[in-house]
Amino acid sequence: MLAAAVTIVAVVVASLLMVLPAGRAREKTKPRKPVPPGSFGLPFIGQTFRFLRALRTNTGEEWLHRQTSTYGPVSRLSLFGCPTAMLAGASGNKFIFASSAVINKKPESMARMIGRRTIRDVEREDHRRIRAIMVQFLRPDACKRYVASFDDEVQRHLDAEWHGRGIVAVMPSMKDLTFDLMCTVIFALGRDGGGNAFRKELSMEFRQMVKGITAVPLNLPFTSFSKCLAASQRGRRMVSGVIQERRAKLEQAQSSPTDDVITQMIAEGLPEEEIIDNVMLLMIAAHDTSASLLTFLIRHLDANRDAYDKVVQEQEEIARCKVPGEALTWEDLGRMRQTIDYIEFGGYRIPKGWQALQTTTTTQWDPTIFPDPGRFEPARFENPSAIPPYCFIPFGVGPHICPGNEVARVETLVTMHYIVTRFRWRLAAGCDGSYTRSPHLSPSQGLLIDLEPIVQGRKA
Ligand code: HEM
Repeated sequence: MLAAAVTIVAVVVASLLMVLPAGRAREKTKPRKPVPPGSFGLPFIGQTFRFLRALRTNTGEEWLHRQTSTYGPVSRLSLFGCPTAMLAGASGNKFIFASSAVINKKPESMARMIGRRTIRDVEREDHRRIRAIMVQFLRPDACKRYVASFDDEVQRHLDAEWHGRGIVAVMPSMKDLTFDLMCTVIFALGRDGGGNAFRKELSMEFRQMVKGITAVPLNLPFTSFSKCLAASQRGRRMVSGVIQERRAKLEQAQSSPTDDVITQMIAEGLPEEEIIDNVMLLMIAAHDTSASLLTFLIRHLDANRDAYDKVVQEQEEIARCKVPGEALTWEDLGRMRQTIDYIEFGGYRIPKGWQALQTTTTTQWDPTIFPDPGRFEPARFENPSAIPPYCFIPFGVGPHICPGNEVARVETLVTMHYIVTRFRWRLAAGCDGSYTRSPHLSPSQGLLIDLEPIVQGRKA
């Protein structure tokens, strides 16, 4: 039950991605197709403000629906000063995620914060090489090694931030927690010998840097962007320090490449700048996504008390088999889971240099595919083969499919186990669970919940 609920909520997290078609030489023999129907709106501004307003007011789905019902599944518009093709539906999802005709291009502000040589920026052999390094540390058998430290981190976080409190803001709390969990996975960082201080300082720089990703890229004194850029540079220096320390250990045969992803990248001969870029990218890819997943899982379970009760029952059964203080194991998690010129698409020609706006929500909110799509119903994902291809893809599909999906699953299962077995919760009075996308999912007041501690599997 919990595992199925994790899947359903992952969808909310991964929607509205921007990618850019790669150039591909046009076969001269083919007749020229028209560009997609639609309008570019006002020069430069296009539909940008309307799009951002729809995200902010959480009416993005309606906005997308209007666009598709007016122009069909392939249409043109202009976003962020760039001509854009919007592709809706399962074939649009397939085309964007699985086709080699489409490459990712980060907005300039993101490239300046994270770097330009991440796994998202390289193609073909270079991409396969970086991906193979990461996957070694993210695939299911590698995740076994994280369960005990995730267990320790989650309990430590709940003791410090939830225990003894009547009310908690879930989103900020989950951001802190997932940052710590990712320090375990990406830096193999413990808590002793400066580990605590490193996490605290890096988390401060990282928080500031993330704001820069959506800031106007104007590097002038006193702009928000320049402050974020400075934080990114300080963060990069900290990662560089870790690389130097790991390199020294490797050279002195005090470590092995299989110890952690950074040491493996050093052993593979990746230049330092490229390692730093990829570490920054991993932190971005892993952190806010998982924090949103956990927050929205709590929100949905609050609104659906039947599902909540089933999850509590399932998790309490597991808790009853443990002696006090015994950590969760990989097997326990198993018991929780029974559960370059132009391109052509849909009869249209999408010129080189246009963006493609992909919207997995158009299939995930399609009532002909998922009846009553707004209803929180984890059971509908219990039989994945019943879901039409490319209609439900929270972790993407194709060559860039999320390699961290198992890590996200493990951290979510461990965290939810303790949240449901140690506390009862309800949305706090005055918190209605509403949220915006600005552009990241952002629940109002961080999703305030009232907490009631449970003693030994029973209500206190
Ligand atoms: C709820 C959590 C998560 C969600 C919903 C999510 C979603 C996604 C999606 C949809 C993509 C594919 C993007 C595309 O094809 O354009 C992706 C890529 C990626 N994700 Fe995740 N992710 C999550 C957690 C994580 C975690 C925990 C990690 C690492 C520890 C991670 C690392 C990555 C990386 C490195 C890529 C790029 C892969 C490549 O380009 O080959 N993600 N993620």
